[in-house]
Amino acid sequence: MKTPAAVLYGLNQPFVVEEVEVDPPGPHQVLVEMAAGGVCHSDWSVVTGTIAKEFPIILGHEGSARVLETGPGVTLVKAGDPVVLSVLPDCGACRYCANGRPNFCDGLLIYRGGTLADGSIRFHRNGQRVRHFNGVSSFSRYAVVPERAAVPIDPRVPLDKAALLGCAVSTGVGAVLFTAKVTPGSTMAVIGVGGVGLNAIQGGTLVSAGKIIAVDVHDHKLETAREFGATHVVNSRTTDPVQAMLDLTDGLGVDFVFECIGRPETVQQGFGALAKGGTAVAVGIAPKDALISIPPQQLVYGERRLIGSFYGSTRPRTDFALLVDLYLAGRLKLDQLVTREWKLSEINEAFRAMNAGEVARGIINQYE
Ligand code: APR
Ligand code: ZN
Repeated sequence: MKTPAAVLYGLNQPFVVEEVEVDPPGPHQVLVEMAAGGVCHSDWSVVTGTIAKEFPIILGHEGSARVLETGPGVTLVKAGDPVVLSVLPDCGACRYCANGRPNFCDGLLIYRGGTLADGSIRFHRNGQRVRHFNGVSSFSRYAVVPERAAVPIDPRVPLDKAALLGCAVSTGVGAVLFTAKVTPGSTMAVIGVGGVGLNAIQGGTLVSAGKIIAVDVHDHKLETAREFGATHVVNSRTTDPVQAMLDLTDGLGVDFVFECIGRPETVQQGFGALAKGGTAVAVGIAPKDALISIPPQQLVYGERRLIGSFYGSTRPRTDFALLVDLYLAGRLKLDQLVTREWKLSEINEAFRAMNAGEVARGIINQYE
């Protein structure tokens, strides 16, 4: 069948919205119709080369959809199911999956080349194969995704907004709840309060962190952060963020800091603002060759820790439902995260707006 899709043909090129052919689902694959695709910084990282991929490719890794058709052997979902797409369709069988760490799944490697698990590519155009992105490709109205990537969710959640559960919410909230396990009353800071960082802020609210300090370079982002639970805000363009984080904690430093940008210097800032016993969590994805330097003494004296959080340590099959429950209970903000809605044909404008810092999160929810 044919589908409208935004195709990226190479580094630093604009997206081309055009018709692409999508094959029927193979074994353990399903055909879905997208409800929405989130406009996320990680897609932009593919455009710029920070995250290396092969071209042409259909990006979009944050997605929600309805199952249209199931391939042979599919047992986990059925036609009509509303689903959130997992960025990491874990194999369920490797050592890491068995240990409850599906974000480390060894069976995922195959997706890196832009194929599905069976090595196939279901998109093509004029005889040329067009690659999948993490088995999601939510910048296409129709897509074939691995059965295990399509996680059914409670139909009471507005399906388009639910797309954010697939990346920004799970990554940000998960970093706080599942990776760092922030304890009630502890102090925390979030550096970079975009789509992911705002969710780290609301993760802090969920676990009743004490002070929640938001750091960003845009005042309007900081205002939004307050709405998500930040108790203090710091504009690092006008104020030294490390000194400000120390001042706001009576000179002690913060117990937890989450870097949600992906820049070495801001990871360093976060580490430099830690209290004794504190944990700095790198959430943003930095360029492959980027390095940080930190004083090792600080690791020893005060037993500070520097750790990473990948996909918020999320286990999609259990944690998407947990996040949905929090939303339905009025404790997790989802609708307020989506500050712009776009048509697929406006995708280049959607990324411009994201890069200009104009939106909390934009979604594409009209595929025309
Ligand atoms: N200091 C503080 N804040 C900054 C700085 C800086 N030097 N540079 C950028 N920011 C802020 C931006 O103003 C914006 O609010 O960081 C935020 C980044 O947010 P988004 O562009 O919405 O990015 P997001 O989708 O949240 O992704 C952040 O997480 O998943 C990864 O690959 C993703 O590395 C990316 C990171
Ligand atoms: Zn993302």
